[in-house]
Order: sequence, then C-alpha cells, then structure tokens
Amino acid sequence: MTNSDVTAVKDDEPRVAPDRTGQAILHFHDVDAWYGQIQVLHEVGYVVYPGEIVALLGSNGAGKTTTMKAIMGIVRPRSGTIDFAGRRLDTMSTPSIVKAGVAPVPEGRRIFGRLTVEDNLTMGAYVRRDQKTVTGDQERVYDLFPRLKERRTQVAGTMSGGEQQMLAIGRALMSSPKLLIMDEPSMGLSPIFVERVFDTIQTINKQGTTIFMVEQNAFIALSIADRGYVLRSGRIVLEGPALELRESDQVRREYLGES
Ligand SMILES: Nc1ncnc2c1ncn2[C@@H]1O[C@H](COP(=O)(O)OP(=O)(O)OP(=O)(O)O)[C@@H](O)[C@H]1O
Ligand SMILES: [Mg+2]
Repeated sequence: MTNSDVTAVKDDEPRVAPDRTGQAILHFHDVDAWYGQIQVLHEVGYVVYPGEIVALLGSNGAGKTTTMKAIMGIVRPRSGTIDFAGRRLDTMSTPSIVKAGVAPVPEGRRIFGRLTVEDNLTMGAYVRRDQKTVTGDQERVYDLFPRLKERRTQVAGTMSGGEQQMLAIGRALMSSPKLLIMDEPSMGLSPIFVERVFDTIQTINKQGTTIFMVEQNAFIALSIADRGYVLRSGRIVLEGPALELRESDQVRREYLGES
C-alpha cells in the first residue's frame, strides 16, 4: 500500500502494529560523525522498523539534528554505515535520498517564505514526475490540514508559526515518503497546536508512513512513540519501548522535569 492509496483515515480506525520481524527501514550501524576536529556522534546505532514511530530525545547539543542531517546526506559519517530499506544511504546524494523515500521536516521549518502555500507544496513534490499522484497527495495534505487549503494562496512567510509547521509537514508529505524524519515538530508552538500537530503525526503514521522524530518535549513524544532513544553528548545512553522510557528515573529526571 502506498500513501496515495489512502485518503482520510478516521481517528477511530485501528492502527496496524509495526512489523519488527523483518528488515528495518532505517538502520544506523556504529555511526561516528565529526564537525572538523570535534566528534559529535559516537558509534551510534538506531533501528527503525516499518510502521513505527520512534522518538529521539536528548538535551541541547546532544547530536539530534546531526543525526537527522546524517540521514539526509548533509553530514557524512566518518565511520559506520546508514541503511535505508536495505540500501546504503550514507553514500547517496540528498536528492537521491528523497527519491528513495525519506522526507525531512527540518528544525526551524525552513519553508519558502516568499512563495505561496500551494507553491511550497509543489516544491515538496519536485522529485516526482507523475503529476496525477502529485495532485492526489496535495488533496491528502489538504485533508490533513484544512487550514492550508483555506490559505493556499497566502504567502507562506506571513502565516503563524503553527501554520508554518503544518506547511512544513505537508510539504514533506508531497514527496510521498516511506520515512518521515522530523526535527522538533513542537518547537515554538502553543499547547493547542502541539496537540494538533501530534494528532496529525499519528494520523500520518496510521496511513502507512514510518516516523523518526527528534523532540525536546519528551512527555508528548513518548506518549505517541513506540520506542525511543536518549542521546547524551553524541552517545546513546538509553533505548527501549516508549512506555518504559517514560517510567525510567533518568528520563523522568532529565526530560520530564521530575525530581
Ligand atoms: N556545522 C557545525 N559545525 C561545528 N559544530 C557543529 C555544527 N553543527 C552542530 N555542531 C555542534 O555539534 C553538536 C551537536 O549539535 P546538534 O545540532 O546535532 O545538537 P542537537 O541535539 O540537535 O541540539 P538542539 O537540541 O540544541 O537542537 C553541538 O555541540 C553543536 O555545537
Ligand atoms: Mg537540534
């Protein structure tokens, strides 16, 4: 089933359980990454299975965005490998990575502020040639975010932060990704928008897209994720089912503000 086979999914529709018996969709093998003389990822290993929502937690400077950049081919591992659906990702160009089925919702959104909402969405589909499915995906984005449909001729830079986040997610979906990677989707949003964005992330996942997301808001991230990783100074210090992480003393102390 591809994303374009599905339109609106009702909220009460049961979720298909992720399949962890077969091949991982994303697999980091002992990845080291450096900026110049400074090592920022140390033998990092993440596994994401098809259909999962996986959360990556960690405080400022832990290496979360670097992880996302490594997936997109913007930062290259100095050693170790990254596989996506059985292919080596870490030797591919960024456009090829998008074409292979990975789409980023970057930190700080990075929408095209001077373009309209609709043109931003069209840009998201630039790797695609099949105009028919592009139109279908645009309708799907508008179903997920009716606000974007209302505002489709608005210049994107004049939209509110929450609306821009919706647009960033919508634009990523326009490449019909198998894997959506998100860097701090709740950043700067009011509680009501955070809730809306996370509801939408769950809907997108139910429609068949695997999700790997970075979040500072550990509580909400772990409430929708299947599993999580905690990164500290470039090393994975904790990993496991989201519910277990939520109960762990370390996460409660460091990320949920409990003493
Ligand atoms: N282009 C760069 N050149 C040099 N150092 C960098 C560069 N980008 C990031 N770093 C450093 O690498 C480390 C990890 O940064 P990264 O952006 O991955 O952290 P993060 O976990 O996303 O943090 P935050 O929660 O603040 O977004 C930090 O110490 C940062 O200063
Ligand atoms: Mg970051």
